[in-house]
Amino acid sequence: MKNFVYSIPTKVYFGKGQLDNLGAELSSYGKNVLLTYGGGSIKKNGVYDKIMEQIRKYDLNVFELSGIDPNPRITSVKEGARICKENNVDVVLAAGGGSTIDCSKFICANAADDVEDPWDYFIGKAKVTKALPLVSILTLSATGSEMDCGGVLTNIETREKLGSGNPILRPKASFLDPTITYSVSKYQTACGTADIFSHICEVYFNLGSDFYMLRRFMEGMFKTLVKYGPIAVEEPENYEARANLMWTSSWAINDFIKCGDGIPWSCHPIEHELSAFYDITHGLGLAILTPRWMEYCLNEKTVDTYVEFGTNVFDIDPYLDKFEIAKKAIARTYDFLFNQLKLTDTLTKVGIKEEDFEKMAENACRNGGAIDGFVRLEKDDVVNILKMCK
Ligand code: NZQ
Ligand code: ZN
Repeated sequence: MKNFVYSIPTKVYFGKGQLDNLGAELSSYGKNVLLTYGGGSIKKNGVYDKIMEQIRKYDLNVFELSGIDPNPRITSVKEGARICKENNVDVVLAAGGGSTIDCSKFICANAADDVEDPWDYFIGKAKVTKALPLVSILTLSATGSEMDCGGVLTNIETREKLGSGNPILRPKASFLDPTITYSVSKYQTACGTADIFSHICEVYFNLGSDFYMLRRFMEGMFKTLVKYGPIAVEEPENYEARANLMWTSSWAINDFIKCGDGIPWSCHPIEHELSAFYDITHGLGLAILTPRWMEYCLNEKTVDTYVEFGTNVFDIDPYLDKFEIAKKAIARTYDFLFNQLKLTDTLTKVGIKEEDFEKMAENACRNGGAIDGFVRLEKDDVVNILKMCK
């Protein structure tokens, strides 16, 4: 077990009607607000109107940046920072899923410094040193961006999708009202659930993750996703399901389970290449990769992790042979992702071509020539996993 410092200062307003507190929260940072959002879902589900009601009530000035894409573009960061600088914005309000919140984190950074090209934060040429305060309204349970300090941006010109982060980018406050997620489509609900599932897998399926209490906590979250993901897909307005998914999304990645320095992740670097090359939904890419990666990594050294997972998450008979338990656990994962969440199960079906596997695998291993996670994956291993996903 490693030593660690735990500090997650995001204030969370959780539950129905919490947007009534938005104006008071925003006012504590100043008068000028930049509202950021995506393609317009907040205008259809009433969130935009609610924000404007609070803006008027607290006499705030609002500027807007809309059109932030899923797999957000670095060009939106530039545009948002420009609006902030020109209008002396005091606080950024991100209303959306991970794409809008991620993009807004780097708007906050770039609005507060003189870095000319914000892509430099992602390629190691510039550091985030200061940032405007960020408040988020989460509209989709998935990435955990509402409580973490990282973000992933896409550079269309270079076909790269890269992550960066800094503790000062963590939202100061996040509004988590599960009813806002009633309007999320079945597809995005399923993808979001798969993303949360993967965030937990990345820590749980890792030989450096040995904290007993945290492993039981993670199993509780896995069980929550297995129970409530399919319910939310079938019954979009089931409050209990939406609330459980929402709070699990935050806790899967708010640094609690990782406990200290990060353990290297495996599926995420591979998925980011799928999204960079083909602009697919992050959670879908992870769903396709995760069970294949599990199969690929199963060996004498790792099998006990699968046994823990299979017996504690899926209640598989602990008296079976350990490899049999592991295979059953993988089969249950397939069933959860593709039968219950009804996600597409192969790369070919989402239009991803084998001719790009080599290049995507090479890029996924760009840091140190390999992904040194649960099982060390070199470029050829990544290609093999991608072939298993065909
Ligand atoms: O753009 P709008 O119109 O809002 O529609 C969005 C978008 O089309 C829609 N949506 C969101 N809330 C809705 C809604 N539709 C109806 N009702 C609502 N309440 O859903 C679509 C997808 O939104 P997006 O924000 O892209 O989804 P998600 O939250 O899954 O974010 C994905 C991005 O986050 C990154 C991913 O790589 C990807 O770029 N990640 C960020 C992480 C982090 N900050 O720590 C970690 C993750 O592993 C991930 O990499
Ligand atoms: Zn993710």
